[in-house]
Amino acid sequence: MTEPGNTLAERMDDSQLGEVLVSAEDLQRRVRELGAEISRDYAGRDLLLICVLKGAVLFLSDLMREIDVPCQLDFMAVASYGSATDSSGVVRILKDLDAPIAGREVLIVEDIVDSGLTLQYLLRSLGARDPASVEVCALLTKPERRKVDLPTRYVGFEIPNRFAVGYGLDFAERYRNLPFVAALAEH
Ligand code: IMP
Ligand code: MG
Repeated sequence: MTEPGNTLAERMDDSQLGEVLVSAEDLQRRVRELGAEISRDYAGRDLLLICVLKGAVLFLSDLMREIDVPCQLDFMAVASYGSATDSSGVVRILKDLDAPIAGREVLIVEDIVDSGLTLQYLLRSLGARDPASVEVCALLTKPERRKVDLPTRYVGFEIPNRFAVGYGLDFAERYRNLPFVAALAEH
């Protein structure tokens, strides 16, 4: 029997994986902090969490267990035209919300803000539906890649300009199940 290797790629037996960007422990700690902060900010208000499919699913499910104010949940799925790793800003709604959001306190839960173009579209689309407020909670942000300036009220971690996978984030629909966030290897 061979010993498991030391690098992530060896342990996972996958040469596409690079180094860990955010460990499972750091994810858990930060999600707890964000949940506490959101609970304080929304005390006495009726919160509507909007999870952006599919990448934010793991983050949302951990985050909402750390939120102790009454909240409701809805889902939206969007696709951005572009290459595998670059969004174009032209966004298509694949699945819209189940219910109207007029008068609601909306918190968009996103996996990652890269160029910011997807989120810019979402903020415009949801903002036009007369919510009482719209804020953003993003697990990750890549400041170096930002093309548009956006109000992201809650952010988990800033990461370097690498393609990230794990904890919900995918590359070609793979790696969403990793309990940590890793970079794709640079070959
Ligand atoms: P943006 O429109 O460029 O901000 O990209 C937004 C979407 O692209 C995110 O919601 C992700 O689904 C995807 N994305 C951007 N960067 C990454 C990454 O590093 N790993 C996985 N998905 C990413
Ligand atoms: Mg994606």
